Amino acid sequence: MAEIRNIVILTGAGISAESGIDTFRAEGGLWEQHKVEDVATPEGFARDPDLVLRFYDMRREAIQTKRPNPAHDALARLDEHWEGNLLIVTQNVDDLHERAGAKRVLHMHGTHLNAWCTACDAKNPWTGTLADRPPCPACGTNALRPDVVWFGEMPYEMERIYSALRTADLFVSIGTSGAVYPAAGFVRDARSLGARTLELNLERSQGSGWFDESRQGRASELVPEWVDTLLDK
Ligand code: APR
Repeated sequence: MAEIRNIVILTGAGISAESGIDTFRAEGGLWEQHKVEDVATPEGFARDPDLVLRFYDMRREAIQTKRPNPAHDALARLDEHWEGNLLIVTQNVDDLHERAGAKRVLHMHGTHLNAWCTACDAKNPWTGTLADRPPCPACGTNALRPDVVWFGEMPYEMERIYSALRTADLFVSIGTSGAVYPAAGFVRDARSLGARTLELNLERSQGSGWFDESRQGRASELVPEWVDTLLDK
C-alpha cells in the first residue's frame, strides 16, 4: 500500500442506511414510495411544487434527527489522519459526513440543508420548511427550492471531481448501487487512469464487475476495517 497517496471515495445512500435514512432502490425504499419523475425532476416541480416542497421538507426534518454511524466516523478519522490528497465525493444530500467531522467532502447532488433561490441564485443554509414559500434571505423573493440535484440537472463540481480522479491512486465506492450516472462511471474513469479500485457494499452492485476488488457487508463494519488497514500500514 506504500504507493497510495491520493484517494477518491464515492459514497451513496448505503453509507447512511444504518443511521436510519432510507436508500432509494431497496424494497420499500424512497423510489418505491414515490415516482421519481414526480418528486425528483424539474418537470415534476413545475407540475406540482407543493408536493415536491413538502416531500423535501419531510426529508430535511427527518435527517436532522439522525446521527452518523461508524462508517461516517471512520471516514472522518481517515480524513483527519491521511496526509495525502483525499476527496470524499458523496451523492448523499444528508450532512452525516460533516457531522462525523469529515472536512474534505463534496456534495455532487447538493444538500438538504441549503435552499437555493431561483430568482437571485443565492444558496442559503436552511433547516426549516420551504412549502410555506418563505422569502429568500438575500433578495426577498419567494422563489426558494431545495438545493438538491434532480434527474435531468447537472451534478455539482464535476471538474473538481474529474481532476481528483485523474491523480487518484485508489478509488473506493461505498454503499451505492451504481445505477446513476455520472457517478456510476467514476470507477471506469479512475481505473482507466491507473487507480486501484475497491467497492464496499452490502451486496454486489450493478458496477461490481468494474472494480479490482468488491467486498460485501455492512458499511458500519467494512469501512472501519478498511480505514484501520490503511492507517496502520
Ligand atoms: N452498508 C453498505 N451498503 C448498503 C447498506 C449498508 N448498511 N445498505 C444498503 N446498501 C447498499 C445497497 O445494497 C445499494 O447497492 O447501498 C446501495 C444503495 O443504492 P441506492 O438506493 O440506489 O442509492 P445510491 O446509489 O446512493 O443512489 C444514487 O440515485 O436517486 C438518485 O440522487 C439519488 O444520489 C442518489 C442516486
